Amino acid sequence: MGKVLIKGGRIVTAVDDYIADILIENGTVEANGRQITVDNADVHDAAGMQFIPGGVDVHVHMETPMGNGVETCDDFESGTVSAAFGGTTTVIDFAQQFKGESPKQALDRRLAAAEPKCCIDYGFHVILTDVTPSALAELPDLINQEGVSSFKLYMAYPGVMMVDDADIYRTMRKVGNHGGMVNLHAENGIVIQALIEEALEAGNTSPKFHQLTRPQLMEGEATHRVIRIAELAEVPVYIVHLSAKEALDAVVEARDRGIHAFAETCPHYLFLDKSEYERPEFEAAKYVMTPPLRDHKCQHALWRGLQFDDLQIVATDHCPFCFNENAYGILKSKQYGKDNFNKIPNGAPGVELRLSLLYDGGVVAGKININRFVQLTATAPAKMFGLFPQKGTIAVGSDADIVLLDPNERHTLSASTHHSNVDYSLFEGREVQGKIKKVFLRGEMIVDGDSWLGRAGMGQYMSRSASGRVLVS
Ligand code: URP
Ligand code: ZN
Repeated sequence: MGKVLIKGGRIVTAVDDYIADILIENGTVEANGRQITVDNADVHDAAGMQFIPGGVDVHVHMETPMGNGVETCDDFESGTVSAAFGGTTTVIDFAQQFKGESPKQALDRRLAAAEPKCCIDYGFHVILTDVTPSALAELPDLINQEGVSSFKLYMAYPGVMMVDDADIYRTMRKVGNHGGMVNLHAENGIVIQALIEEALEAGNTSPKFHQLTRPQLMEGEATHRVIRIAELAEVPVYIVHLSAKEALDAVVEARDRGIHAFAETCPHYLFLDKSEYERPEFEAAKYVMTPPLRDHKCQHALWRGLQFDDLQIVATDHCPFCFNENAYGILKSKQYGKDNFNKIPNGAPGVELRLSLLYDGGVVAGKININRFVQLTATAPAKMFGLFPQKGTIAVGSDADIVLLDPNERHTLSASTHHSNVDYSLFEGREVQGKIKKVFLRGEMIVDGDSWLGRAGMGQYMSRSASGRVLVS
């Protein structure tokens, strides 16, 4: 690849903020400085733009089977194109071990599906659902040879994904001994199952019962419990999609005692609340994700968590299902659960909106500064999951994953303009300030305004280093 020179933008990293040119050679940043001149470069004028590192989204579910034939509606191509238009250049998806399968088989299956389609760089967390001695025995090789340094366990969805506390402990010991990280979906699945049965027996089948049967207390309980297990196992722990104040309180309490408890939240918990479940007809199904949307008190607590570093990462949990059946069929649609809230596919879209929402609602709104924005969306995720400094910053030697953002341009979020396959937006009609104008992946421009210049298969698999003992600053 030839040289690329991007001139005169404002480079923002998690710690820096200065005007400079960036010279890119062979896909990495060769130099930053004032008035760089070079022959034979492809030159881009970026006056008035901000250069930020390509986003790293550590929680997405592309072409993911959810059981009974239900599957998310973005494949690795449409989902990563959507991510790229949103300024994200690396995603970490999941390789789920099915019962009876080995973790390595799960990884190989997902690698084969992703490789021809991914348009941005990608990695996988392995989800363990069958924690057998032989599965545990494979984990060191996955960490040391295959570049999978993080493993996800579910405390929810009994009979499907849930593992018990002993298996959580065993996995933590094994993964922790090799410097990896364990990610937890922390909700008390057993009690939630009882609440779901109670609701259905009473004839309560509408989508709002999704929220009513997944109480904040049960997220708080599971978060507290799993942090205690991690404390016993003497390993760091990472809580995914934290939504409830009670769960954040458990993280804060542990961190205050010096325990390595980390957590992410998602844009929908920061910008939406449970009043969405009062929407008429089946509309509320669009907001059926797990955990469900919470109240204003939780939103306030989450913002405080982001400000004071009790929450380290904003990820999307992009897990899209169309609203209408006729788009990609009933199995990729919320309509699958039209008669029973417990059958509505859990999950919501958002991979394209993370940077726009957090820039507008965080930086422009004065809740976080621009360096913290970069930290939350790129640097901390890269550090936490073994991608830094190749990803997550703009520095000499790092991959030239660079986003040019116009800090002043306003635009309106809509399903009619996004690039995901999903047929609705959680944020339809919301006007935001800050527009992504160009996106470079390893020095190659893949987004130029509204034009897509990337290719299926150009994304590279990221073999990640074990980062479980690295603290995120
Ligand atoms: O609703 C969500 N988050 N869907 C993805 C599966 C899960 O719960 O993690
Ligand atoms: Zn989850």
